Amino acid sequence: MTVLDAAVCLKKNKGWILSTLEERQLPFMKANQQIYFSHDTAKALFQFSFKPQLIVFQIVKGGTGKTSLVYEFAVRSSLYGAKVLCIDMDQQGNLTHAFQQDAEVVPVMIDVLADNHPLEQAIIPVMPGIDLVPSRFENSLLDEVLRQKKLPLGSVYRAPWQALKGQYDLIVVDCPPSLGQSVAASALAADCLLAPVTPEKFALSGLDIVYQSVEELQSCFGVSIDFRIVLNKFEARTTLSQNALRYLLNHPDYESKLLKHYIRLSQEFPKGIANGNSIFESLKPTSAKEDLDKLTQVLLGISGGTSQSGSLDARRLTKSSAKIPSHSL
Ligand SMILES: Nc1ncnc2c1ncn2[C@@H]1O[C@H](COP(=O)(O)OP(=O)(O)OP(=O)(O)O)[C@@H](O)[C@H]1O
Ligand SMILES: [Mg+2]
Repeated sequence: MTVLDAAVCLKKNKGWILSTLEERQLPFMKANQQIYFSHDTAKALFQFSFKPQLIVFQIVKGGTGKTSLVYEFAVRSSLYGAKVLCIDMDQQGNLTHAFQQDAEVVPVMIDVLADNHPLEQAIIPVMPGIDLVPSRFENSLLDEVLRQKKLPLGSVYRAPWQALKGQYDLIVVDCPPSLGQSVAASALAADCLLAPVTPEKFALSGLDIVYQSVEELQSCFGVSIDFRIVLNKFEARTTLSQNALRYLLNHPDYESKLLKHYIRLSQEFPKGIANGNSIFESLKPTSAKEDLDKLTQVLLGISGGTSQSGSLDARRLTKSSAKIPSHSL
């Protein structure tokens, strides 16, 4: 977190932030004429009281950015002082690799379900303010074990994960790009289910499938799941992006669920993960950082963002770099 970003967030000037850090002897670093700090200082400086929440990232389409957004959202949230738990439910283990962890040597969800390993033993610290339940290939058997043991989908993940909200401000879950018992149980554990969608036909079909499945889960289990959509890899100038946006804004079910800030296409995302870094490692301003910062503020309900509950009327939104442009209707 740079002093400049903290100043914008707290609506103070940089001098005020710096003198507060010095007066309160909060550790910070300097590089390239910028001052920045990490999770512990952020927690002490911002003192946000977060309403603990569990957000599940899910859509039945690969490559729409679930893992990238979970990872960067977790990192940014920790830099606002939130204590975050990431749960990797995808047997590909991409989130686990993003945090540069080797899940071969630690228990994962399949060990918790199949061998009654305590969930707490599967939690490992990965970054200041961030813990992870990692994943590996054996998690592809989760559906099988859920079926064999006849475990109740409505509570099998919900009960243990929701109980962890006492220890974390934020729990984020990365799902595989499929539907099944385990993914359904993850959805049933969620306070909010966020579907990242990209401007492609198949991603929009994937959105329809996950939306229908959430509707069914809600009626079968008598629960209410806060379903949200975030547009990722958006390029305002391309017809594909404009068509996808038009489709979402004109869709009777999706319009109110679409977050008003989209994430622009940016090579910073693949570059960051390839180098084993978050986009927030670098101090230079980028569109990727700007967009993820906005997404984080909106989802955490902190300054500058909109409340995380209630629907967003995209038709009335003003035009700005990373907002749904009003002229696209
Ligand atoms: N806004 C973006 N701009 C450019 N590239 C992006 C963006 N978001 C994600 N990517 C890239 O797209 C690729 C797929 O992203 P990611 O792995 O996060 O998707 P996923 O939905 O988790 O995929 P899967 O369903 O296979 O797990 C990655 O190379 C990632 O770096
Ligand atoms: Mg993924």
